Amino acid sequence: MLSLIHRMKIVEQIKQPIAFEMELFEQKFLISMSSKVALLNRITHYIVNRKGKQMRPMFVFLVSKMVANGEVSDRTYRGASVIELIHTATLVHDDVVDDSNRRRGFFSINALWKNKIAVLIGDFLLSKGLLLSIDNGDFDLLKIISIAVREMSEGELLQIEKARKLDITEEVYYEIIRQKTATLIAACCSLGAASVKPESQDVETMRKFGELIGMAFQIKDDLFDYGQEQIGKPTGIDIKEQKMTLPLIYVLNNCTRKDKKWLINSIKNHNKDKKRVKEVIGFVKDNGGLEYAITKMKDFQVEALQILQHYPESEYKNSLELMVNYVIERKK
Ligand code: IPE
Ligand code: IPE
Ligand code: MG
Ligand code: MG
Repeated sequence: MLSLIHRMKIVEQIKQPIAFEMELFEQKFLISMSSKVALLNRITHYIVNRKGKQMRPMFVFLVSKMVANGEVSDRTYRGASVIELIHTATLVHDDVVDDSNRRRGFFSINALWKNKIAVLIGDFLLSKGLLLSIDNGDFDLLKIISIAVREMSEGELLQIEKARKLDITEEVYYEIIRQKTATLIAACCSLGAASVKPESQDVETMRKFGELIGMAFQIKDDLFDYGQEQIGKPTGIDIKEQKMTLPLIYVLNNCTRKDKKWLINSIKNHNKDKKRVKEVIGFVKDNGGLEYAITKMKDFQVEALQILQHYPESEYKNSLELMVNYVIERKK
C-alpha cells in the first residue's frame, strides 16, 4: 500500500509541469475518436474509459516544453493525439496477434467483440490518426509517425518470423524491440521537438533519446512476462506464443548443449504444456536470465539519461529524468 502511494506520487510529480496540457489532451483525444457508427462509438468509449499510462503523450509534451522554454502549440496537441491513437490501434491489433484476452486490467477488444471487429477498430483508429495530421497540414509530423507505423509492422513480423524458426540472436532481439516499440517512443520525442522547433537539431537528438528509453521500456515489458505481478494483462504467455525475449535468449546462449536442446524442444513442441512452460521459466530464472536483462535495460537507461545532460536545468528536464527511471521501475 505504501509503495502504491509512493508510485502515485512519482507519476503526479512527473505530470506536474504538464498537468494543464494533459487535461486538455484527454478532451481532444476523446473527440478525435468520434464516429457516426453507434457500434464504433460504443467500443471507443470502452477504450477511453480504460486508459493506459499515457506515457507517450507525456513524452510529447515534456519534450516540447523542454526544448522550447515551456512552449507547446496546437501541433503538439495534435501530434500527441495521433500517437496515442496509433498506440491504441496497435494494442488492439497486438492482442489479436498474440491471442491475448486481457488489456489494462479488463477484457481485450478481441475477447469481447472477437477478432473481426478488433481488426476493423484498429484500422479505424489508425485512419483517424492519419487524418488528424492530414486535415491540419502537419505533414512533417505525419512523416515521423508514418515511419514509426511502418517499423512497428516490420518489427511484429520479424518477431513472428523468428518465433517460427527459433533462431533468434541477441542482436535480432534488439532489432525487433527497436522496431516494434522503441520507434514509437522515439517518434513521441522527436515529434514533441518538431512540433515547436521543426528545423532544430533537437528533433534528431530527442529521437535518439526516445529510442533508448523505448528499448529499456520493452525489456521491462518482457521481464513482466516472467513475473507474477498483476500488470493488467496476462503474464507467462511469451513462451506459449514462442516469443523469445532477452532473458531466454541469454540463457540459451550460455547453457550446455544438452540444456539448450531441452529448451528448444520445450519451446518448439511443448509450448502449450503449462507445466513444461513453468519449468522453462524456472530454468531461465535459475540461470541468470532476468539479471542479465536487467543489466542491459539499465545500460539503455544510462545512455538515455546522458543525452538529457546536454540540456539546461528545467522542471521539464527534471520530469523527463523521472520518466526514464519510472520506465524501468514501474509496476505495470
Ligand atoms: C504496451 O505499452 C505496449 C508495449 C509497447 C509494451 P504501454 O505499457 O505504454 O501501454 P498502456 O498504454 O499503458 O496500456
Ligand atoms: C507490444 O508488443 C508492442 C506493439 C507493437 C504493440 P507486446 O506483445 O510485447 O506487448 P504487450 O505485452 O502485449 O503489451
Ligand atoms: Mg505482441
Ligand atoms: Mg502482446
